[in-house]
Amino acid sequence: MAELQKDPITRKDFLSFGILGTITGAILTIPPAAFILGPVIKTDVLGQTDVPSGPDDWHEVGSITEVPVEEPKVFVVDFPVNQIYGDRKIQEESGLSTEEFVVESAIWLSWQHEILEGGEYGQSYRPAFLDDYDGGTLTQAQIEEIQGNLKVLSSSCAHLGCPVRWIVKEGAGEFLCPCHGGIYNINGQYVGGPPPRGMYEYTYEVREDGRIYVRHEFDIEEGLDVQKPYVI
Ligand code: FES
Repeated sequence: MAELQKDPITRKDFLSFGILGTITGAILTIPPAAFILGPVIKTDVLGQTDVPSGPDDWHEVGSITEVPVEEPKVFVVDFPVNQIYGDRKIQEESGLSTEEFVVESAIWLSWQHEILEGGEYGQSYRPAFLDDYDGGTLTQAQIEEIQGNLKVLSSSCAHLGCPVRWIVKEGAGEFLCPCHGGIYNINGQYVGGPPPRGMYEYTYEVREDGRIYVRHEFDIEEGLDVQKPYVI
């Protein structure tokens, strides 16, 4: 009598494949589902922030002299956090005061660039007077020129909030989101992929001494609730 052939897949293997398949399915399904459901999720809640915001809540980023001419630079700002969602366990167990309990946020600074046909970058609009600027007092006109051309961008992708990276390829650079391939140009404008808009821009100001300050609030286009920050 022919010997029964042993099943090459054991019951244990079968169960392992099942669990692996479930996890893979969840990873592939959750981000698109969140994107599709974006318009029906209560976006006025998503647009809220745990970072206290008021007229005095300006946080220093760095000096105007630190922003390179041709490419963006990332700065880190410590925003104090007041956990308003769920339980405040981490904050309470830290033993730190509200002012001391901070979360580091990455902020991209770049000079606005001319965008040529085909997407290449033309001239940088960095003010020429900065070539000789040594940290002295800026005039109001100089501050306005800087503020008209400086981009202060959130590193949270406008799709589902993954941190974007600056990638240089063949001489030109782009912000690339590693999660689902969102792409933005040096001005933070949308280039490709699933994000519904360009990168979020911080409210910022440049002071007379050339230092840059931000508040934890962003450009939100009126009437487009889906564009409120998903994760910041
Ligand atoms: S989080 Fe999806 S493209 Fe950035």
